[in-house]
Amino acid sequence: MKYGDLIHFDPIESVVQLRDADKASAARHFVSTYVISEEMAERLTQLIFPQMQCEQPIDNKGILIVGNYGTGKSHLMSVVSSLAEDASLLTALTHPGVADSAKQIAGRFKVLRTEIGATTKSLRDILIDKLEENLEKLGVAYVFPEANTITNHK
Ligand SMILES: Nc1ncnc2c1ncn2[C@@H]1O[C@H](COP(=O)(O)OP(=O)(O)O)[C@@H](O)[C@H]1O
Ligand SMILES: [Mg+2]
Repeated sequence: MKYGDLIHFDPIESVVQLRDADKASAARHFVSTYVISEEMAERLTQLIFPQMQCEQPIDNKGILIVGNYGTGKSHLMSVVSSLAEDASLLTALTHPGVADSAKQIAGRFKVLRTEIGATTKSLRDILIDKLEENLEKLGVAYVFPEANTITNHK
């Protein structure tokens, strides 16, 4: 008998590549393998999903996830973003309470995943270029105004 006959496990990918969640099969894998502690369940249902939902006007804000290397930031963002763009993934969630709460955002978003590396390009230019590029892929032709022609971005 081999050790492999006794122990079965999926090899752990040491670092989740956020962009991988662009692929539907990978997205389902991220959602179904995400282990949800009660503390994380509470953060998802009380903070993250309420901030993301658009049904009830609250003072919605962006969410910044901070943590040390390997603590699960990319996996969490893959799960949240995958649910946001595809409601069929709700059933892959392992926590019933989170699945129920995730209904308010599931399938309601177009998701743009991007990473910023070492660069001196301005954050505005990076974000706007990415938005224009991806809007075009969705068939929306939109060009943001030049920075020096506006006084406010709101
Ligand atoms: N809650 C979780 N459930 C299952 N696997 C997790 C969880 N959090 C982290 N991991 C796994 O730990 C590893 C590191 O997570 P990752 O999201 O890449 O970390 P970070 O982006 O914070 O550096 C990955 O293999 C990821 O799948
Ligand atoms: Mg990461």
